[in-house]
Amino acid sequence: MEVLLSVNAQAADVAEEARQRLINSITVYETTFAPEEVVVVRAPGRVNLIGEHTDYNGFPVMPMAISRDMLIVAGASKDNVISFANVIPSFQGGSFTIERNIPPYQGGDWGNYIKSATQGLIDFWGTEEGLQGLKMVIDGNVPLASGLSSSAAFTVAAAEAILAINGRTIDPVVLAEVMAKSDHYVGMASGGMDQSISILGQAGKCLKIDFYPIRTKLVTLPKEADILVCHSRVKAAKAGNARVAYNMRTVECRIAYMLLHKLAGKAGAKEPTMLYDWFANETEGFDDALNKIETALVDEGYTVKMIADALGVSEEYAAKEVCLTKTGEVMPEPQGGFQVKKRARHVISEARRVEDSTALLNGDSENKAEAFGLLMDQSHASCRDDYEISCEELNALVEAGKAAGSYGSRLTGAGFGGCTVHLIPKGKGPEFIKKIHEAYYLPHDLDGYADNQYLFAPAQGAGKLF
Ligand code: GLA
Repeated sequence: MEVLLSVNAQAADVAEEARQRLINSITVYETTFAPEEVVVVRAPGRVNLIGEHTDYNGFPVMPMAISRDMLIVAGASKDNVISFANVIPSFQGGSFTIERNIPPYQGGDWGNYIKSATQGLIDFWGTEEGLQGLKMVIDGNVPLASGLSSSAAFTVAAAEAILAINGRTIDPVVLAEVMAKSDHYVGMASGGMDQSISILGQAGKCLKIDFYPIRTKLVTLPKEADILVCHSRVKAAKAGNARVAYNMRTVECRIAYMLLHKLAGKAGAKEPTMLYDWFANETEGFDDALNKIETALVDEGYTVKMIADALGVSEEYAAKEVCLTKTGEVMPEPQGGFQVKKRARHVISEARRVEDSTALLNGDSENKAEAFGLLMDQSHASCRDDYEISCEELNALVEAGKAAGSYGSRLTGAGFGGCTVHLIPKGKGPEFIKKIHEAYYLPHDLDGYADNQYLFAPAQGAGKLF
């Protein structure tokens, strides 16, 4: 009963909550800095519906922006210093000088997301000259380390604040390209999904996003379905183990395209820089690519020696130049070797699921929710078995969603904790929330959290509110 009440209250109080957040942030701004003219910007988090770990391989994703966001109240400063504070005092504020190359804070410091936004814009303009400093107060309600992209929302909001205070604009798609690289500043070799959807999200629609360069297509969700997101409460912190595990996946994919390209032995074929290049230039499409992966790669984990032998390079070169993230981090050979085959199989099959989902959802077939749900289920199985980014808790939540009668359920985001996303029959949110509460949160002693489950509709992307 309590759960149902809180769901209804949530829906009714959204506008009031937004108003309160705004008033609170402006008050904190006034007391931290001074009463003066301010701008208010926001950037949303996201939930990815399908297409996991495809972006950095050059394949598309299909996310939507959500109502949870990062709100920034910002005012101009007379110098070239960026000062920041959070409405939650335990997030310690700070300040830094705008310079051509901004040194990061220690790993895990939340101020790094403001620095990465600033650095990204400076790199884009090629100079820090003429960039005015600012003071900002941040209020976020995207659950942290939950796979809903709180950090991307934060980075994008910071960029919007810098742009607004400096009276500058950048075309949103160009800004998405600029911000797509922002995670590299904190050592995550991510793709550009999170920042792109935070900037380009469209109310009422999800987006199919292609990369290199960024291109978007509006996708319509099945009218008979709602989106429910459930937080496993397992933290997927970018500053922690999730970063290493994520970067390892990017390296395994890099090894995959190098091996597949070498084994294809196509004279004159251009060197691929990611799995997509191999796919586009050296295969006949999804079936052919999957067949090639099955026959060309071995099931067992690859040692550095195996990689060196297959590529015809020295072991030293393989270890230092092949097993390398795009952020320059060398990944040591993991126990059991690099899982190249499974990873490549996931990426290609997941990319096909994104293409199939787009065609299905924008087409005119009858049972879109069931068909899309099936693709979501298959995506989860592939994330769990081939990409190995799930965990017991995420699997339990997916099972709880399926047992409650979802069309489709899967983990969302980078994995290793965070959230699951469920496609459920329209209007059945409270019923699902109750069932999943009983199946997952109660037995896991997680019923103490006020907000474990969220009903999201696709929200608008980032921008200046006033
Ligand atoms: C994180 C990254 C994205 C994407 C997802 C997995 O959210 O920031 O670029 O790779 O993981 O799909």
